[in-house]
Amino acid sequence: MNKIIEAIKSRRSVRSFKSDALPRSELEAILDAAVWAPSGMNAQVWRFTALTRRAHIDRLNGLIRDSLRDSKIERFKAIAADPKSDLFYGAPVVVIASGEADGPTSAPDCALGLQNMMLAAASLGIGSCWVHAPARIASGPETTALRAELGIPESHAIFGSIALGYAAGPAPAAPPRKDGCTAILD
Ligand SMILES: Cc1cc2nc3c(=O)[nH]c(=O)nc-3n(C[C@H](O)[C@H](O)[C@H](O)COP(=O)(O)O)c2cc1C
Repeated sequence: MNKIIEAIKSRRSVRSFKSDALPRSELEAILDAAVWAPSGMNAQVWRFTALTRRAHIDRLNGLIRDSLRDSKIERFKAIAADPKSDLFYGAPVVVIASGEADGPTSAPDCALGLQNMMLAAASLGIGSCWVHAPARIASGPETTALRAELGIPESHAIFGSIALGYAAGPAPAAPPRKDGCTAILD
């Protein structure tokens, strides 16, 4: 099979990570893959911020748990109530994708960058999982402080994140794909 198509089909969302750090050169290669994604009008007004310090990841996780506290969804409320819940599955690296909040294509631009990184990671034997919750953290002094510390520009919104690391167990099985989601009109 064509290598790119094979990589697209074999990438899986990993939800259990070893704590081992990633080699710096490989993390750099993964981040570089993000900025080779296409962007609307080639604006490239995005930032892919890699968190490698446990303290930063834990603070982000705490802010997410706080944001879920008032959720109407039971599963989210349970996550908020459990002080041990880790939205990033123990990953040693989390990459936050942010872009201009009012940018006309910021959301798809960031999504394409995240997908490039997940594919690049898979090609290096590194697991990944999109974790959407950072896009929903409530504003407040602690969020502002963490964003400032991470260097996320004030004009940026967070559009998603990925957890990155070596998978702790065997490769997850591929969830089946639904039929009827593609069409060719001859
Ligand atoms: C926009 C988006 C948000 C997602 N959010 C989460 C998430 O918060 N937590 C999680 O574990 N997986 C999340 N996922 C991963 C999906 O659950 C996963 O891609 C899907 O189950 C298919 O599995 P696969 O990636 O192994 O093909 C998200 C995926 C996308 C595209």
